[in-house]
Parts: sequence; structure tokens; C-alpha cells
Amino acid sequence: FCPHGRPKPDGIINPCIRRDERKVVDAFDIEDISEKVCFCRCWRSKNWPYCDGAHGPHNKETGDNVGPLVLKVNKD
Ligand code: FES
Repeated sequence: FCPHGRPKPDGIINPCIRRDERKVVDAFDIEDISEKVCFCRCWRSKNWPYCDGAHGPHNKETGDNVGPLVLKVNKD
């Protein structure tokens, strides 16, 4: 089951995020990032496209080792 409680079809990476779309694509303006932002790469976040820590339980349950993409603004 996906984090939203729906059955997860076999053989797919995305269990339930915006499954009604042909392809899930998100775009961001880098200038909108004030300090740091963490993007989900495990496809389990309930706050997609941002990481909400769901990768932790997923890794523990499955033995996977996925984590977020962290973007930081260099203030120098
Ligand atoms: Fe998916 Fe953190 S919740 S990488």
C-alpha cells in the first residue's frame, strides 16, 4: 500500500503521487529558494515534491537506501 492507503501496483516506482497525470513533472525557480529545500526522491512523501521524512520508514521496512535531494543557497 502507498502512504495514502491505496494499493500499490507492482513494478512501478511511484506508488500514488498524482497517478492521474501521464508524467509527474515539477519545476521551480531557483531564486525562490531562500536558504535550503529538500526534494523527495523516494516517492512516499505526503508533501510532494518536498521530503517529509517518509524515506526513513520506507528504508527501514524495505532495506532500501533512498533519501532527498537537498539544495542549499550559497550565501557567500
Ligand atoms: Fe521521500 Fe524524504 S520523503 S526522500
